Amino acid sequence: ASIAKYARRMPRLPALLPHAVSPTTDYYRVTMKEAQAEVVPGFLTEVNTFDGHFPGPVLHARSGRRVVVTQTNRLGVPVSVHLHGAHVPSSSDGAPMDLIATDGGTKTYTYPNQQSHANLWFHDHAHHTESETVFRGLTATYLLRDDVETRLGLPSGRYDVPVSIRDARFDEDGQLHYEMNDFANRQVILANGRAWPYFEVAARKYRFRFYNTANLRSFALALADGSPITLIGTDGGLLAAPFQTTSVTLSPGERADVVIDFSRYPVGTELELRNVIPQPPGQPVDVAQVLQFRVTRTASDTSVVPAALRTLPPLPPATVERSFSLLMDETPPQPAYAYINGKEFDDQRIDTTITYGTTEVWTVTNANLRAPHNFHIHLVQFRVLERNGVAVTSGAESGLKDTVMLRAGETVKLQATFGGYRGVYVYHCHLFDHASMGMMAQMQVV
Ligand code: C2O
Ligand code: CU
Repeated sequence: ASIAKYARRMPRLPALLPHAVSPTTDYYRVTMKEAQAEVVPGFLTEVNTFDGHFPGPVLHARSGRRVVVTQTNRLGVPVSVHLHGAHVPSSSDGAPMDLIATDGGTKTYTYPNQQSHANLWFHDHAHHTESETVFRGLTATYLLRDDVETRLGLPSGRYDVPVSIRDARFDEDGQLHYEMNDFANRQVILANGRAWPYFEVAARKYRFRFYNTANLRSFALALADGSPITLIGTDGGLLAAPFQTTSVTLSPGERADVVIDFSRYPVGTELELRNVIPQPPGQPVDVAQVLQFRVTRTASDTSVVPAALRTLPPLPPATVERSFSLLMDETPPQPAYAYINGKEFDDQRIDTTITYGTTEVWTVTNANLRAPHNFHIHLVQFRVLERNGVAVTSGAESGLKDTVMLRAGETVKLQATFGGYRGVYVYHCHLFDHASMGMMAQMQVV
């Protein structure tokens, strides 16, 4: 059945509230459980949630202030809660085998927030099952703010809107239909948990924090009239300076922080946010549609986008170089292997041993001829030095990143300093189905 477009409002994500607050720490309790949500009009869909919300709520955190979250698992499958992009001790990282395995089981995660502002997010990381558990909804938003960000005067309050974008596949009865590596059939686009919603805006500037929470699908977000979007930040926080663009590309796991100025439109304007990424043959036009902005009123606007946003941390000289190659079987429907450097994930094996405090350059190649991948490293925010041999000096990849897109055949060079915590962490392709199949490995900082 076809789903009516732009028939329902995009919800704002509810805020998660602490149950206790001390001078240094905010304490939260969250229950992971199934719930029902009206994702497509006229159906109640069974979904996985944090505290009953699809997608999950927003945890508002402050740099330098600790957050402690006690998670209770009522989902009936093992989970591991990972805070993507966070700099945390490995015991609280939500590693693939560090499971909350039993029904009613709990684990308390501690997030020191010793890092600058960033758009982080929670998702399941339990090895082999994360791809289905996330597909069914187990994601949430974590906005880490600091003074550098808040004193800039960017659009704030109700004009600062996190948006979780993903695709999904539904049965005729409106239930989520999961099959491993089923990219081609996930053709319904969701924004904040609703299929193709609209969002009413005032004729002024808004800040949107776009998250790609899809398993496999990349998006290139663009306004239908080709108007500029101001990219102000990426995974690890603000860019050094705003970057004007007509489309913002996000592979699964990546975030884009943007400002869109609706003051150029008269009240009554309807404007689509489209997905202009090139589609493989056979994809319907629907996947090029995401949501519709409706300019419904005028409003005053004292917000600004300063020409200088932040000073990025310096790049210390790298002393170690490594190479990684991502490769999977491209024979559909069930790939026989998904490798990093020729090996499948094994939690008993350390693939990369790193000396604490070292700055390293990692060259990462997508060795597939057709399949897209990306690359995510836990613990650190990295810099993209080069893409396909071309130096990245400005633009969308010049800031702090934790996930980087790799189209078929592409190579990127990344630089990171591995400090703060010792321990075992993973790096992997963030197309959840690929990680689930084994495109993941372990590093140990010693
Ligand atoms: Cu969002 Cu290990 O990933
Ligand atoms: Cu991949």
